[in-house]
Amino acid sequence: MPGFFFFVSLPKIAMNMKHKIAPSLLAADFLHLQQEIELVNNSEADWLHFDVMDGVFVPNISFGFPILEAVGRILKKPMDVHLMVVEPQKFIPQVAETGAYLMNVHYEASTHLHRTIAAIKETGMKAGVTLNPHTPICLLEDVIQDVDMVLLMSVNPGFGGQRFIEHSVEKTARLKDLITRKGLNTWIEVDGGVNMETAKRLLAAGADILVAGNFVFQSPAPLQTIKDLKNL
Ligand code: DX5
Ligand code: ZN
Repeated sequence: MPGFFFFVSLPKIAMNMKHKIAPSLLAADFLHLQQEIELVNNSEADWLHFDVMDGVFVPNISFGFPILEAVGRILKKPMDVHLMVVEPQKFIPQVAETGAYLMNVHYEASTHLHRTIAAIKETGMKAGVTLNPHTPICLLEDVIQDVDMVLLMSVNPGFGGQRFIEHSVEKTARLKDLITRKGLNTWIEVDGGVNMETAKRLLAAGADILVAGNFVFQSPAPLQTIKDLKNL
């Protein structure tokens, strides 16, 4: 009965289409990590984003596996791990061990990206490929069918609190076109300089998941800020 299907499937479609918010731990207060994680647990955040930096791929060092493991013990949201390291394929088993839901590797750091993606998926994690601001969408043409998510950097990776690169909005729209043209359901995540204003434009361009570091954790009311981003 067509009427029945319409009635049943509409809320589901609407639910699936709602964008996700992933606060970035990098901007949290590390001295009070437990309170920060409890805040995330009690919020409308969908995922928690972890920025792992090696001081080689990016000019900064953040935190590593001991932090992911400790946070993972109390975190009630899926872990979205963004590796800003050279040779990310070496760390697939360690990331999987932390219980991560999704592992993102940089296109620029992956000589054998296809193999790396397959190895990530073999562990049961979702596989994401990340593009630096200068890396064109067209380079995904022959690999996009294999990834669960594309993470677009809207700042140069390495630091939180940087200014949003405007070109990222148009780039998001072009990625959305590629995904639609191929008939795929690949998620689009955007990371860097997300605030209420940039978020609105990124969502209109086709973003599915927004990472927000400073905008959430430096906000006077992080719970409300997450809610506001979620309700856009
Ligand atoms: C930058 C990181 C981002 C960062 C975002 O290298 O990948 O995830 O934490 O921080 P904001 O939202 O403050 O730009
Ligand atoms: Zn990140």
